[in-house]
Amino acid sequence: MPCLCRGFGLRSFDSAAAGKRPSRPEGPRVIEFRAVTKRFDDGTVAVNHLDLTVDAGTITVFVGPSGCGKTTSLRMVNRMIDATSGTILVDGKDVRSADPPTLRRGIGYVIQQAGLFPHRTVLDNVATVPLLFGWTRRKARSRAAELLELVGLPASLGKRYPVQLSGGQQQRVGVARALAADPPVLLMDEPFSAVDPVVREGLQDELLRLQAELDKTIVFVTHDIDEAVRIGEKVAVFRQGGVLAQYAPPAELLARPADDFVAHFVGKDRGYRALSFVDASGVEIREVATASIGDAVSQASDWRLVLDDGRQPRGWLPAGSTVDGQVTEDGLEPGGSLYTLGTPVRGALDAALSSPSGLGVVVDEEGRYAGVLTARQVLDLIEAQRGSRR
Ligand SMILES: Nc1ncnc2c1ncn2[C@@H]1O[C@H](COP(=O)(O)OP(=O)(O)OP(=O)(O)O)[C@@H](O)[C@H]1O
Ligand SMILES: [Mg+2]
Repeated sequence: MPCLCRGFGLRSFDSAAAGKRPSRPEGPRVIEFRAVTKRFDDGTVAVNHLDLTVDAGTITVFVGPSGCGKTTSLRMVNRMIDATSGTILVDGKDVRSADPPTLRRGIGYVIQQAGLFPHRTVLDNVATVPLLFGWTRRKARSRAAELLELVGLPASLGKRYPVQLSGGQQQRVGVARALAADPPVLLMDEPFSAVDPVVREGLQDELLRLQAELDKTIVFVTHDIDEAVRIGEKVAVFRQGGVLAQYAPPAELLARPADDFVAHFVGKDRGYRALSFVDASGVEIREVATASIGDAVSQASDWRLVLDDGRQPRGWLPAGSTVDGQVTEDGLEPGGSLYTLGTPVRGALDAALSSPSGLGVVVDEEGRYAGVLTARQVLDLIEAQRGSRR
């Protein structure tokens, strides 16, 4: 099973590396591609004159159709593949001047389906690199247990073998293993593509949470534009032939694709998706009549929002409805989605469009009722922001 080791570059850890302790993290690093080309022996140009800088401490996503050179670009960073021409600098140093094992000590690598060793327990999978560095078994396992917790797995899973885990859990173990030596740089090649969309979203959230804590320089490869704009601070779109088509923050990519290829790749609904990056703070929220569970209310001509004791929305009393006695949960019409203050405008539009009353319910960070807004207000804000950008 050749790919099992390849995924993490472990075969290249030489005996000289063993016995050394991992050095402390040196802080995030910049990765620079300067006129990098990779031509394979059969003449295939996988990467064509790539100029790109990955900013320190960010998640940068490489996205593009199959065969456009994403994996090749990634693997040139840790020298699993050497560039034909051009230079790659990590932290200002040409990767060619470092020997691969030393280089890879500072670069974690995560691949699709995690690439775990099937015959080792989860804990021993994660402890692999610390052991190679010469840590005692006890210390390596204790570090591995910490890392499992960090990636959101219960310590009890440490005793299992990879086959006894779900796909999402295996990916988390893969991330934990890549983080074991606390590398400042993390390369992730389609790490979440083998799991279903719901699990994938959970893993993306987890990665964003981890990154907020760890501040690594992460290059993340995916086919999936939604994943790219969700997690990338900057996104590099590649086209066939290993050519960089556009490199920009997600909001810019969606609002101003560089050409038809990028426009097509980011998709038909890019205008709507771009709303994930528009601030809704300019929408003025209003009050609406409210009632509480247990209140005795009379017939009214307008919709009333029903709140619980903690002022969290429970549902709507339709206009004109008569309540026989007290307001109960059963008499309510379910509400639409809620819009949390301070989040992107897309959520505000969704709250208004999904509300039975046509009024989107706004809540604060604790989920307490803050007011309502209409789709019209949100659209006016979007129009005004578009106008000011032109
Ligand atoms: N060892 C090799 N020899 C010859 N051609 C290769 C080799 N490895 C990759 N290629 C070719 O280089 C191009 C880029 O491959 P690469 O694996 O980087 O693409 P990718 O963008 O990661 O694709 P995918 O999304 O399918 O993973 C492809 O045309 C591929 O066939
Ligand atoms: Mg690939």
